[in-house]
This record gives sequence, C-alpha cells and structure tokens, in this order.
Amino acid sequence: MVVPGATIDNLLRENERHPPPEWFRRHASWRDDRVYVAAAEDPDAFWAKQAERLHWFRRWDRVLDWDPPFARWFVGGKINASYNCLDRHVRSNRRHKAALVWEGEPGETQTLTYDRLWREVMRFANVLKALGVKPGDRVTMYMPMIPELPIAILACARIGAIHSVIFGGFSAKSIRDRVEDADSAVIVTADAGYRRGNLVPLKRTVDEAIADVPIVKHVVVYRRANVDVPMHAARDVWWHEAMAMADAWCDPEPMDATDPLFILYTSGTTGKPKGVVHGTGGYLVGVATTAKHVFDLRDEDLFWCTADIGWVTGHSYVVYGPLANGATVFMYEGAPDHPQPDRWWSIIERHGITILYTAPTAIRAFMRAGDEWPAKHDLASLRLLGTVGEPINPEAWRWYHRAIGGGRCPVVDTWWQTETGMILITPLPGLTTLKPGSATRPFPGVSAAIVDDAGNPVPPNKGGSLVITRPWPAMLQTLYGDPERYTQVYWSRVPGRYFTGDGARVDEDGYFWLMGRIDDVINCAGHRIGTMELESALVSHPKVAEAAVVGRPHEVKGQVCVAYVVLKRGEEASEFLEANLKDHVRREIGAIATPEDVYICDRLPKTRSGKIMRRVMRALVSGQDIGDTTTLEDPGAVEEVRRWLATVEGRDA
Ligand code: PRX
Repeated sequence: MVVPGATIDNLLRENERHPPPEWFRRHASWRDDRVYVAAAEDPDAFWAKQAERLHWFRRWDRVLDWDPPFARWFVGGKINASYNCLDRHVRSNRRHKAALVWEGEPGETQTLTYDRLWREVMRFANVLKALGVKPGDRVTMYMPMIPELPIAILACARIGAIHSVIFGGFSAKSIRDRVEDADSAVIVTADAGYRRGNLVPLKRTVDEAIADVPIVKHVVVYRRANVDVPMHAARDVWWHEAMAMADAWCDPEPMDATDPLFILYTSGTTGKPKGVVHGTGGYLVGVATTAKHVFDLRDEDLFWCTADIGWVTGHSYVVYGPLANGATVFMYEGAPDHPQPDRWWSIIERHGITILYTAPTAIRAFMRAGDEWPAKHDLASLRLLGTVGEPINPEAWRWYHRAIGGGRCPVVDTWWQTETGMILITPLPGLTTLKPGSATRPFPGVSAAIVDDAGNPVPPNKGGSLVITRPWPAMLQTLYGDPERYTQVYWSRVPGRYFTGDGARVDEDGYFWLMGRIDDVINCAGHRIGTMELESALVSHPKVAEAAVVGRPHEVKGQVCVAYVVLKRGEEASEFLEANLKDHVRREIGAIATPEDVYICDRLPKTRSGKIMRRVMRALVSGQDIGDTTTLEDPGAVEEVRRWLATVEGRDA
C-alpha cells in the first residue's frame, strides 16, 4: 500500500483543515451543500438533469436500466459525442473561441478554435470513412500528445467508430496484443514524437507490432517530426495527403446512448490487459458534469490536465469533459523537465493557465527539484489545483498548495479509475473543507462504502474495501469480448456492489481516505501495472522458470516494481542477465513497466499449496514485519530474500 507511514505526519494531516477561500466560494458553480442531499434523494433525476446540459438528437426514454451487473444509461436516447464537443459550440458564440492551445516540446505553439477543430474533425472523419471505417469498427491510435490525437478521437466519435488509444510508451508487443484483441483494421500514428529532446519512433514500433497481423488494413501516419519512415504501399497513408483529398463536411452519426464510444486497455490481476468499454451517453454526461463542477470550469479558464491522452485521465479531462463544456484546453507534448525543471511553470506563466490537474508523482518530482524552479515564474493566473492517480502524501499536498498554488488555490484530490470513466470521490472546490490526503466525499449522485471481507459495512476509521453501491453514468459497460471476466472481476467479490480493488477508510466526518490497491496491481508513477502481466513477461524469457513481482514504496514514484526470478535448471545468474531481463520486460510491455530491481534466487516464498506469498515479499521489500508465516512451505526462501535485500542495500550505498 502506498500509505505515508509516519504517525506524526498522520496526526498533523488529520487535524489540518482548509475551508474554501471566500473569493473562490462566491463564484463557484456549486456552493450549496443541498446539491448532495437532492442528488441522494433521487439520483436518477439528478443525472437526468445533468444530461439536459447536452444535446440529444432524441431524448432518452429511461434514465437507467439496471440489470446487475450491466447498467444501461439514457436508454432510447440518441446522441453524438463529437456533436456535443464541437457543433454545439460552433452554433454558439463560442464558435471562434480557442478549444485547444498546444505547445510542442521543441517550443512551437498552436491554437485551434472550436470552428477550426470542428473542420479538422469532419475532414478526418471522412478520411476514416474512405478507409472503410464504419460505425462500431475499432480504430487504434498510437500517437504523441499533438492536436491530431483529439482530432482523430473526435473523428471516430463522429462516425460512431470505437477508438482504442494506446499510450505512446507501450511496446510493439503490447500494441499487437491490443490491436488483435480489439480486432482493429485501422491504426493512426505519427512518424515520431518528441520526448526529452529525443525522438520516439512511433511508426517504426507500429510496423514491428503488425508485421504479421493481417487484420490491420491501413495505417495513417501524421508527419510530426519529419523523419524518414518506410511507407508500405496500399497499407500506409500520409495524414496530410489523405486530408487534402477528403471532403470537408461530415454529418455526425446519431448513436444510441448505450453504444460503445471507446475501449481503453488497463492492467488487472491476470496477465492479459482488460479492454474497458465505455458507452456514449452515460459516459459523456458523467465526464461533462464532473469536469464542470469538480474544476468549476468557466469560459475564461485555460484548463491544463497534464495526463497523456493515452490514459483515461486524458480521455475524460483533456478531451471529452472539458470540450463538452466548451472550455479551452491546454495540451503539452513533451517531458515536464525539458529543457529544465521549470518547463511547466514557464508554460503556466506564458499561457496563463488557470487550472492545473496533475499526479502526485509529478508533484513529488518537482518538490525534489526545488522551490527555486517555480519561484522563477509568476503563477498568479492559477486559481485551482487538482491531483489524481494515487493517494497524495500530506507533505506533497502542502508543497503543491504553497509553492504552486501560492497558498490561495483549493486542491481537489480526485479518486477514480479507468473503469469508472469519471471522477467519483472528490471535493467540490467551492464548498468542501479540504483535509490534505483525503479525496473527501463521493460526488453528488455517487454512493460509495467501505466493507469488510464478508461485504459488511465497517465502522468509521476502520479500513476495508472501497465499493460503489449504485451504478454511475460513466461506469464501464463491460470488458471487451469478455463479459464473464467483467462480472467476475468487479461484481463477484461483494455481490451487487462494484469492487474497486482499493483499500480505504471513512473518518468520523464521512471523508474517504484511500490507502492504495489491495490486489496485485502496482501503482508506479501513477501507472497501473499488473504484477501478473510482468510475471508472464518474465517467464516468457527462455532462461526463466518462475517469477514473482511486487511493489516497493518509492519516494517519487509511489511504488516501483521489484522482480524475483527463479532460473531454469543449468542457467547461471549474473548482473548481465539481470539487465537483460529488465530489457526483456521493456520490450514485452514498455518502458513504464521496467522493474527497478531484478533478483535472481533459487526459490520463492510459497504457501504449502504452491501459491507465491506476495504479502510476505511485499513486506520484505518494504522493510515491514512479515507477519504470520506459518503457512509458508519453506521458511528458508524468506531468509534468502532477506539476504538479497542486504546485498542490494550494500550495492546502492
Ligand atoms: O488505486 C487507485 C489509484 O489509481 C487507481 C486507478 O488507476 P487508473 O485506472 O490507471 O486510473 C488513474 C486515473 C484515474 C485507483 O484504483 N487512484 C487514482 N486516483 C486516486 C487514487 N488513489 C488515491 N487517491 C486518488 N485521488
């Protein structure tokens, strides 16, 4: 668990209170507690009222059909997500307002008005149609953080195609698995993207991924970095050439509210990534409502969610949520510390960012880089800060509040997941009194509880599993092609409740304190990595017989992955092989999953029934008491891990 340990720090945290500043509260979109009461009395009516802020080609017949564990929101409604993010604003006085303000890593900037974005999206929608993409077809994107990514996403939404965005840090093998699972015939990519002054060879990685994947018929390549890439005749097309030939006008497809909008793959507790499927109407209502009220979004804001669009945070709060509100979104292509650790602060100053939404791991990295970097810049345009991705430790919270927010900006600590699609537990900045480290309360219309292993509610301040007790509009619809796994993973642990996989407690004021994952998922630098996924990558190496991966607490990244590996008979351990295994994981999954340490050992701590005791290993690498080991088959294995830890500590020192 990624819980800050020191008791004194915990005590300080418990007593600290930050009521909304009066200047913020006075103008906030929601500043009356009754919003919670009204939503709790009749959640369906509450969500229906929120849905009225969107444009429907046909109004829904029923707000929610709940046939556990499958929820259908706004049944009978017809809607188009791109229409709501574009046309609606183009038909208003927002037509020539900036929709996207973008800065590339090398420093160039670009502003796209709603009118311009709309035209680009229509044209690219026609490109996709010309490549044979039809409603319900899957289109994969493997792109840098450039405006063409939201353009491609909204173009899919416009024609009713289902997008599957793959984060640009994933390996060829990961792309291939996802493309095959989604059965996607078209991929959109770029020649390369900029990252910390280097070029990330996206097209080359796609080529490697699909070399023998015949289902892929076309690859559209955007020229971002002007590097030479091989183009396969008949399969590959240049973005600019296809756009030049495409028609300018494309009507939006009226979709059923319950039609899928996108698939996004995420890690679970087994080796195979899960294709989380989100619907159209409910998802849009959920992200539009939370974007509006959690961030108190207004027309004059410049909203910067720093997440890559390859993650759910980017889908919901770079693209759909803010654009559905007609907001102006800021997007940055590159690394936070390039060319210097003040890149973000310089961006805030130069562009006049008003709302910053980022991850605790980034905050901790900046905190470490030192106060002098933000101090060089005037950050007075900021009025609200947000965090997401993992629990924020009070020290990082206070630094963010003081050094970035100048002590004046509320900090919204938002809890949610790929599966939830929208923020579920969060402060409302105009009315919630903040306690650093707590995500505070469920959003209006959302019901959560903490339960014990038997599924019974636990008393205040007692830890347990976080469950969501009622469907919410942006709830995942299923796992792509695998409804049984959907039912089993999320709805079987506590019958009738959505099982989040997170541990938490609720304090005497009803505030939620998240305590990290309780399953075999590691949260490394805000990225979710399944231990099983890493383990199967490791055992796919010809020299490896067995592997176990656990998370170890890390000051900046929250957690890092540590791998224990047993070699096949006759194989020799060496530092070279350790490095080779790290490389192997990087190639199999991607750089984000690379283990920090690989430990080659003779045996793993196991139960008598042969299950690897991750609890014991986690405790060992975290320096905690290993607790009850009476079920261990071979206590000698624990000793071996201990000895190894002693050597590693020696090596680091
Ligand atoms: O453990 C929780 C943690 O991130 C997990 C979800 O990861 P992912 O699906 O990649 O989505 C991340 C962005 C929405 C959760 O199960 N998490 C996310 N936000 C918080 C958090 N833990 C504590 N506090 C948060 N604010």
